Amino acid sequence: SIPVIIDCDPGHDDVFALWLAAGHPSLDLLAVTTVGGNVPLEHTSRNARVALTVAGVTDVPVAAGAAGPLARELSTAEWIHGENGLGGPELPEPAFGLDPRGATALMADVLAEASEPVAVVATGPITNVAVLLRDRPEVAPRIREIVWMGGSTERGNVTPYAEFNAWVDPEALDLVLRSGIPFTMVGLNVTHRALVTAEVRARLAALGTRTSAFGDELLDFFCRTNDEVFGLPDGPLHDPVAVAVLADPGCVDVVRTRLDIELLGGETVGATVVDLDGMLAREPNAGVAVGLDVNRFWGLVEEAIGRLA
Ligand code: BDR
Ligand code: CA
Repeated sequence: SIPVIIDCDPGHDDVFALWLAAGHPSLDLLAVTTVGGNVPLEHTSRNARVALTVAGVTDVPVAAGAAGPLARELSTAEWIHGENGLGGPELPEPAFGLDPRGATALMADVLAEASEPVAVVATGPITNVAVLLRDRPEVAPRIREIVWMGGSTERGNVTPYAEFNAWVDPEALDLVLRSGIPFTMVGLNVTHRALVTAEVRARLAALGTRTSAFGDELLDFFCRTNDEVFGLPDGPLHDPVAVAVLADPGCVDVVRTRLDIELLGGETVGATVVDLDGMLAREPNAGVAVGLDVNRFWGLVEEAIGRLA
């Protein structure tokens, strides 16, 4: 199985990313780090532990990282995720505390100690990964690859051309792209196919477990806010699609292309510029997800949750 670190900002869909990583047999979840994003850091750091506690996973260290972006103020998304970031269910007390090392040291230690290079999946603004590469560059060769949910080959969801995770911390994405570590972007163009339809909800609820029941309450809230804000009653469950790239590569079509992030544009800051047609004649520097086998994806999520508490 592939050793993996999840860096996240839970967030409803981040919870499903954590569950997919913790429950899928082809992945070995070594650590979780949190970042300020959907809601401030104290909430995301608690929510990550709540998600793992519900799933009965209490032996994976969770450490808090950056409270905000490298060079900008934090913008949050309570309008989708609620005041505490996990609107809907009643949240249990986390069964364990935060790892005192903090995100950078935890990631560096896990990378240094692992017997093989470790994949990093980021499902929020990619600040923590940028800080790691900036402050602990010696561990970069220990990173097998980075998969990030964010960006889009098409339009955005926070401005016409910017997706939330890209827009919150574009400088962090720029730094990570320049590192040369194998990088895959999983953007809205594919995550908008991972729709939580009534059929998907019924299928997950039918698992009949504590985790699936908690998940159903999360999805109920998430679909309602996505309907209110975007007119998408079958909310797109973005973040686990990035984990699916590792769990089952055949589930997501990825092309190698040129990816750049807009840092300066007056109206387009945070837009991911994906040169699918090679117009810029620059060296490809990333994989970009362009297709999703939707049924196979929900099968992975179902299988993983079914293996949790
Ligand atoms: C991304 O933004 C967050 O609200 C979600 O958790 C996801 O990571 C989608 O744009
Ligand atoms: Ca997220």
